[in-house]
Amino acid sequence: MTRLSQLACLLPLLGLFADLAHASPLADEQLRAFLESKDDEVTPLNHLARRDAMGFKPRHLRPEEYIKRDTISGPDVGQRPNFNGQDPEPERGATGASFLSNSNHEIDAQNVDNIAGPTTDAGTVPNLKWSMSLSHTRLLKGGWVREQTITDLPPSKDIAGAELRLAPNAYRELHWHRVAEWGYILGGTGRVTLVDEEGKSFQSDIKGPTNTSDPDIYYFPPGVPHSIQALDQGLEILLIFTDGNFDALGTTFMLSDWLAHTPLEVVAKNFGVNTSVFNNIPQKDPYILESTVPPPGLGKGVPPSDPQGTSKNKYVFSISQQKKQTAPGGGGWVKIQDSATNFPISKDLASALVFVEPNGLRELHWHTADEWLYIISGTGRATAFAGSSTSRTFDFQAGDTAVFPVSYGHYMKNTSPTQPLIFLELFKAPRFVDFSATQWLALTPPQVVADLLNISVATVESFKKQKQVIVA
Ligand SMILES: *[C@@H]1O[C@H](CO)[C@@H](O)[C@H](O)[C@H]1NC(C)=O
Ligand SMILES: *[C@@H]1O[C@H](CO)[C@@H](O)[C@H](O)[C@H]1NC(C)=O
Ligand SMILES: *[C@@H]1O[C@H](CO)[C@@H](O)[C@H](O)[C@H]1NC(C)=O
Repeated sequence: MTRLSQLACLLPLLGLFADLAHASPLADEQLRAFLESKDDEVTPLNHLARRDAMGFKPRHLRPEEYIKRDTISGPDVGQRPNFNGQDPEPERGATGASFLSNSNHEIDAQNVDNIAGPTTDAGTVPNLKWSMSLSHTRLLKGGWVREQTITDLPPSKDIAGAELRLAPNAYRELHWHRVAEWGYILGGTGRVTLVDEEGKSFQSDIKGPTNTSDPDIYYFPPGVPHSIQALDQGLEILLIFTDGNFDALGTTFMLSDWLAHTPLEVVAKNFGVNTSVFNNIPQKDPYILESTVPPPGLGKGVPPSDPQGTSKNKYVFSISQQKKQTAPGGGGWVKIQDSATNFPISKDLASALVFVEPNGLRELHWHTADEWLYIISGTGRATAFAGSSTSRTFDFQAGDTAVFPVSYGHYMKNTSPTQPLIFLELFKAPRFVDFSATQWLALTPPQVVADLLNISVATVESFKKQKQVIVA
């Protein structure tokens, strides 16, 4: 089956039809080549995220509509960056000047708003973005891990993130954390196990996105000991921890590490066995281990029978079972998971999977907790407003993480006219909370808004009273 016919099958699912038809993507040579190319495994999310690997050449897209915005709106009049399709230069309108020295043009091209940000940017906002591609990757037998902690992105105090890859059947060793762990399955299949404080056990298989469904997420409360094993496809997970300082001493506790650092007589007496039993336990924290045998099917002899019973809590949540909420603004959809509505165990972490159609805009809004972001696919642009006439614009690609500190006003714009932007919003909070600028103004007496913004009452009355979430 060609890409084109695959996409035709997926279109209703993705809700993309109208926009693709509108954006006339077949006039786009690169997109057409991508759509017509063949591949084996295609998934709604992976399909987009892995397009590069399938021969689609990424490039910086600067949609017409964005250029228009800069030429018609107030503070930006005549001030659009003058790139002309070449390497970005620090020039905008009559301001700035070209590079005389070298610059890293690849990084510049991914961060054009660092080079020549909109004229509305002002003051000093610290860096709020970290690409996982800048993280050190620990290569281990059976997989790898790379992380973003507070040392990489100091403003992210509430949340740290990591990407973890396990080869088929490999394990993430037995461990627990001082903080909560939340996982989003980026690809493959696996199995998680845990035992709660009442001695109740839990086991579940987890899976990444497939051709027709969204992936699973899971939540391990603070202190609850757990393990993760990949199944036959291997496994890749986005891990979230509810403390930016995740590498601090006293945050993660590996079982083998503990036993290796406890007198052997004590360990033997504790487990009621001869000391010689523990002669060959790992002496260094292996972190990831290869498996000696593939696990049996779920329920076949596992878990061991538990006199306390199995846990009734649902630690795994299938996003595929969840109905997507189409944004009233017509620009995409969201699926929100939190302890207040549909994922009761996830008390310390609220999340939203956001799908923004080409050129769509996640509306101007703010939150009551730090927002930590992870870009799954596509390209985006956001401005963080820090109050006190201070704001800074950032550009995003797949694999980027970012933080909008609590209360910072922001939006997220899909900068591609042809590709969707898919990202996660995460909060250290029991409930997803946001405030919409449009809704606020629409529900304030119009004369108040008209007087304070120097716009007409009729304009204020045209504002939508319902949160638009994502505007087309
Ligand atoms: C996914 O879709 C592709 C293309 O339609 C198909 O060849 C493949 O078998 C599908 N995979 C699964 C697991 O259904
Ligand atoms: C422990 O094992 C060693 C070696 O197998 C054996 O010599 C010893 O008698 C055992 N000790 C006890 C208390 O069973
Ligand atoms: C409001 O807008 C008008 C133009 O429509 C302008 O003349 C006036 O100075 C503005 N008032 C303020 C307070 O900015």
